[in-house]
Amino acid sequence: MSEGGPPGYGGLPFVPPFVPPYPPRPERLPPWRALIREGRRNSLAVLPRIAYERDLLTTRVLSRDIVLVNSPATVQEAFVDKHEVFQRKSPQFRFALVPLVGDSMFASDGALWRERRRLMAPVTHASRMAELLPPVTETVAECRAEWARLPSGTLVDVLAAMGQLAAAIICRSLFGRALGRQAAGAIVAGFAEYQAVVDFADPMSLLGLPDWLPRWRGGRARAAIRRMHAVVDELIAGVLDAAPEEPSLIRAMRLAGEGSMDRAAFRNEAIVLFIAGHETTANLLAWAWYLLSQDPASEARLRAEAAAVLGGRTAELADVPKLVFTRAVAEETLRLYPPVPILSRQALADSSIGGRPVRRGAVVVAIPWLLHRRPALWAQPDAFVPARFLPGQPRPPRHGYIPFSTGPRICTGQQFGLAEAVIALASLSQDVRLRLAPGTAVMPVAKLTLRPGDSLPMLLERDAGTRIPGEGTTT
Ligand code: HEM
Repeated sequence: MSEGGPPGYGGLPFVPPFVPPYPPRPERLPPWRALIREGRRNSLAVLPRIAYERDLLTTRVLSRDIVLVNSPATVQEAFVDKHEVFQRKSPQFRFALVPLVGDSMFASDGALWRERRRLMAPVTHASRMAELLPPVTETVAECRAEWARLPSGTLVDVLAAMGQLAAAIICRSLFGRALGRQAAGAIVAGFAEYQAVVDFADPMSLLGLPDWLPRWRGGRARAAIRRMHAVVDELIAGVLDAAPEEPSLIRAMRLAGEGSMDRAAFRNEAIVLFIAGHETTANLLAWAWYLLSQDPASEARLRAEAAAVLGGRTAELADVPKLVFTRAVAEETLRLYPPVPILSRQALADSSIGGRPVRRGAVVVAIPWLLHRRPALWAQPDAFVPARFLPGQPRPPRHGYIPFSTGPRICTGQQFGLAEAVIALASLSQDVRLRLAPGTAVMPVAKLTLRPGDSLPMLLERDAGTRIPGEGTTT
């Protein structure tokens, strides 16, 4: 490519980039029965080719109007300019989550959402990084030490490993280091039990498809909720009654919500932070390891940056701004494999988008997966090119790159999640290279989040003579 190439490259010299896998793109949307059947298996696989080209698409499935906003302008109109009309989460999303997280910021709208957002957003805000990141560094250092004890060539399920890492981090952030360390197992088990009985790991639900599709398994779901609530209530009591005081998100929440939030509200918001901040970051990390394993040049560049900035240390707050290529890898991973692949809303009143009428009750969706791969917005949209996110490159179109959503309901943990990913990638890459296990076929599957299937088997390889953090050397 010559100097001044297409947008997204900013005139960088051309090297054929790695194109990671994506599901086939059918010519047209399947008939609704097949749409539901196939869509429940993998909602990305039913998106027709035309969806990658249009700014706005409307369809009607059974009695439900569905409006796809698919350009920066239409996303801005629905998610920013007309937020008051389109702020409510889709009915199925609420059915699935409200029993677990009650009146929380995540699932509510209107005055309650506004008030909770005002109180809760500062708790994970970028300005609190000095308090938020030490548990990240500590947990990543422990993961390094654990991996260092594995012989080179060990098979690791990287999806599960990143899930455990992210869960340990968010639990320590929420409940403090000591309690959080013990809490992770019980919370992960409680949430997994809930997920198993409530079918909200189904993005077709988010599209607002038929309400009669089975979702609830009554008694079992209620029992799972009771158990999860009891675990979290006990942890919150442990944090609030403990002395001496240790920094934690629960304490920050108490300061923020003093007087206006009861214990149930604390519990609801705590579960929200666990759900919102755990699988998202875990998937980002798993996808990043996969992409790096397939692109030796990017992997070498990231490792060189980590070595230069960290010199063997585990990254901390002050290192994050220096790890620019690592951050670009994380941002490009979020473009190609946005952990939340579908954002769905319900119209609270008759309105319009792009000049087309939208009726009250219609489900409005933005699909970051589609937007991030539109040829109109990105050069080589399906290719892995971290350099497009380096400083000095043109920034992606506003509202065209939305891995954290956009508008007033944008992710409150955006900076925290990104910093966590940068710290983990840079630190761990100093010790190991992860290689895809031979014979593994990777394909993105959209459940509630976008994952590389049910597992990601990779071989952990170590350079001879690598220092084990805190110990001697290994070969
Ligand atoms: C790479 C990591 C992450 C990604 C990709 C991500 C993505 C998102 C997205 C797309 C939404 C909007 C969902 C919707 O509107 O339907 C969201 C909301 C939210 N996220 Fe994140 N998130 C990440 C990490 C985190 C972390 C670490 C936290 C906190 C610890 C967090 C807390 C929240 C909360 C509280 C909301 C709800 C905001 C509201 O409704 O007003 N997220 N996130």
